[in-house]
Amino acid sequence: MYFVRLAICVVLCATLAASRLMILEEGRYHVDLEIRGVGEEATISLAINAYTTGYVGFGFGLTNELPGTDVFMGGVISIDSIKQPYIDDYYIGEEKIRVKDECVGCQNWNLVSADESNGRTTLVVERLLTTNDTQWDIAITNTNLYVRWSTGETDSVEGVASWKGRLVNLFNVDDTPTSTTPRSTTTTSTVSTTTEGPATRHINLDDNYTVELSLTGNGVNGVIELLLKVNTAGYVGFGLSRSPNMTGADLFIGGYNAVDKTLYGKDYHGDTNEMPVEDLSGQDWMVLGGYEWEGMTTLQIMRILDTSSPQEDIAIQNSDLYVIWSYGENDTISQHNARGSRLLNLFVVDDGQNSGSGSDFSPLRTNFLLLLMVAFAFLKS
Ligand SMILES: *[C@@H]1O[C@H](CO)[C@@H](O)[C@H](O)[C@H]1NC(C)=O
Ligand SMILES: *[C@@H]1O[C@H](CO)[C@@H](O)[C@H](O)[C@H]1NC(C)=O
Ligand SMILES: *[C@@H]1O[C@H](CO)[C@@H](O)[C@H](O)[C@H]1NC(C)=O
Ligand SMILES: *[C@@H]1O[C@H](CO)[C@@H](O)[C@H](O)[C@H]1NC(C)=O
Repeated sequence: MYFVRLAICVVLCATLAASRLMILEEGRYHVDLEIRGVGEEATISLAINAYTTGYVGFGFGLTNELPGTDVFMGGVISIDSIKQPYIDDYYIGEEKIRVKDECVGCQNWNLVSADESNGRTTLVVERLLTTNDTQWDIAITNTNLYVRWSTGETDSVEGVASWKGRLVNLFNVDDTPTSTTPRSTTTTSTVSTTTEGPATRHINLDDNYTVELSLTGNGVNGVIELLLKVNTAGYVGFGLSRSPNMTGADLFIGGYNAVDKTLYGKDYHGDTNEMPVEDLSGQDWMVLGGYEWEGMTTLQIMRILDTSSPQEDIAIQNSDLYVIWSYGENDTISQHNARGSRLLNLFVVDDGQNSGSGSDFSPLRTNFLLLLMVAFAFLKS
């Protein structure tokens, strides 16, 4: 059965072209979006990752006025640890009253997967660019649209939601912080711009732990993205320290919990060499995706280089730091685990292995995310 699902995933995932990132709400609402195909069959898929345990809303309108906006609201309702995903297609009418697209076949957003963990909701959805619901839906075209988003404190979608907006062209918006020249969010001509992405580099921490690393920018404007691949079905730790031990270390610990089928991951720091302590100043690592496959955990995480919390985090700079790592045989964080440390500079370290010619990380990131989501959806089913 796994084999069949894997085969389906391989086929599906191979069709995924590079997707693009929209960063809304100062990073608290990410959208990985991708437009595939042409003509009547063209679809858009969105992988939304938002800091909320309530609903997540997304949509678009032709004008800056709310009436006439086409939106959906979705999320995961957890009752007694049973997770119930939901999604509904709406239209905001006169007087800003939101109505469900009621006609037959008019619920056009297909929920591919939904998850809620660590205060975040992840939704993967897809829709035709042009639905046959001309009454309630807006066709997505290669022009500027007013993108709308909203998050709720709860899953109750009753009442008036607060929608924020941004004028973008969904065909070319890309907030991936890679290029020095800001990418256009307005309609472009047929000339496609190629942007050089940051290189992906590899770090082999030990026989069972490799990291793919991508770094862009500097300080508070920089971002580090890591793909941790660890030969364990337990938790995975990655940290930075000025000494080779846990004292003063800045740590991320996460994994995939096979029991409740969720990803987890939190920001910690080391007070002493004892157990790590959860950060209170801010949870800065964002788990973008991940899965567990045949005893191997893969996690994709991202953080700002300088989180401006020197008490609990270490700013990542172009200088040597100890990378400290650990992994456990199960998801219970303990001191009895495999671990190690190594002095290196994250701005330059490269242990080789397919690191190649300044390859663009974004296809990896984005394809990987979608691949994970799809894989997830299949494996969970
Ligand atoms: C839209 O298309 C779907 C099939 O893709 C069909 O089931 C539905 O009836 C159509 N709705 C309208 C309003 O034409
Ligand atoms: C890697 O994991 C295997 C078991 O999966 C273990 O036997 C081996 O010692 C580990 N290697 C290191 C360097 O920890
Ligand atoms: C941690 O490392 C620092 C620097 O190497 C050292 O001074 C300190 O004694 C170490 N602490 C422990 C508990 O090993
Ligand atoms: C998890 O691993 C730790 C350390 O290896 C072990 O002591 C503990 O019993 C394990 N817990 C479970 C539930 O298997």
